[in-house]
Amino acid sequence: MGVDVATPAAATAVPVVGRTREVELLVAALDAGAHVVLEGPPGTGKTTLLRAVADEARLPFVFVEGNAELTPARLVGHFDPAQVLERGYSPETFVDGALAEALRSGALLYVEEINRIPEETLNVLITVMSEGELHVPRLGRIVAAPGFRLVAAMNPFDAVGTARISSAVYDRVCRIAMGYQSAGDENAVVTLRGPEVDEQWRAKVVALVRRTREHPDVHVGSSVRGAIDMVRITAALAGRRGRDVTDWRSGLDSALVALSGRIRLVESGTRTAEDVVRELYRAEFGEEPSADDDSDGADSPDGSPGGGAPGGA
Ligand SMILES: Nc1ncnc2c1ncn2[C@@H]1O[C@H](COP(=O)(O)OP(=O)(O)OP(=O)(O)O)[C@@H](O)[C@H]1O
Ligand SMILES: [Mg+2]
Repeated sequence: MGVDVATPAAATAVPVVGRTREVELLVAALDAGAHVVLEGPPGTGKTTLLRAVADEARLPFVFVEGNAELTPARLVGHFDPAQVLERGYSPETFVDGALAEALRSGALLYVEEINRIPEETLNVLITVMSEGELHVPRLGRIVAAPGFRLVAAMNPFDAVGTARISSAVYDRVCRIAMGYQSAGDENAVVTLRGPEVDEQWRAKVVALVRRTREHPDVHVGSSVRGAIDMVRITAALAGRRGRDVTDWRSGLDSALVALSGRIRLVESGTRTAEDVVRELYRAEFGEEPSADDDSDGADSPDGSPGGGAPGGA
């Protein structure tokens, strides 16, 4: 009750680009009955990978968003007060939370952002991992059905609570590190998730997003999500403006919208996120083609080919 268990019957194939090694490691760890933490920056495909593996192996799974409000009662379940008044404390008046549901059905419990959950909730998970069962006051024991495993995702850059993940948790889980994928793989992800656009232009969008991860003023750059959004927004914006998707201005405007909120700057820096995005955009797409060069990518009418905009097309 109140919790969605994604059943294999409802599953649709989730395509995963690349990641063959991580898929293999995750499948093996789950086969071995281990609990697993997937650790990597946002947007590195942790959820995608888990969904694909769960689908492929036809494993049911229960999804929980980890945050400061995830109390033990929310995770485990609670007695419905109105029902309790009428019928007293009994299994029928208990509303299963995600953990009770996963334990009973032998599902994978997928906890996003495990580092954000409160200490008491973390302790509940530690107990379940060690003992394979849960004791709920006035309800009794909930024993883990075969197949129950915890898979948690965690972002190493997240300042919230990362340090709190104690050695007690780490000692009970196996860890798979998820770094950023190669440019080729990220390109394939954007192709999969975004609209159809000029291939060379799309590759430059991916390159621009990758540059945000190396800029000295940036602490955390954009994930591939930024590239997916930039491609989508540019296509929409250029369409409204009656221009080709490779239009320089539309690309810059979209880059600002898609990326400026996604990059986190170093604290000592003096520049704004917009400045950094503009700089990187120019480095990747060149300077703006001259104003009277209206036709996208064509030589300028006054005879200067490209108008000094390398790769501006
Ligand atoms: N290898 C991949 N194959 C297919 N799609 C991918 C891949 N990696 C990322 N994506 C796409 O990028 C986006 C982010 O991926 P996902 O949600 O799996 O990341 P995440 O690591 O779970 O992020 P977060 O830490 O923010 O929860 C999604 O739209 C997803 O479809
Ligand atoms: Mg995720």
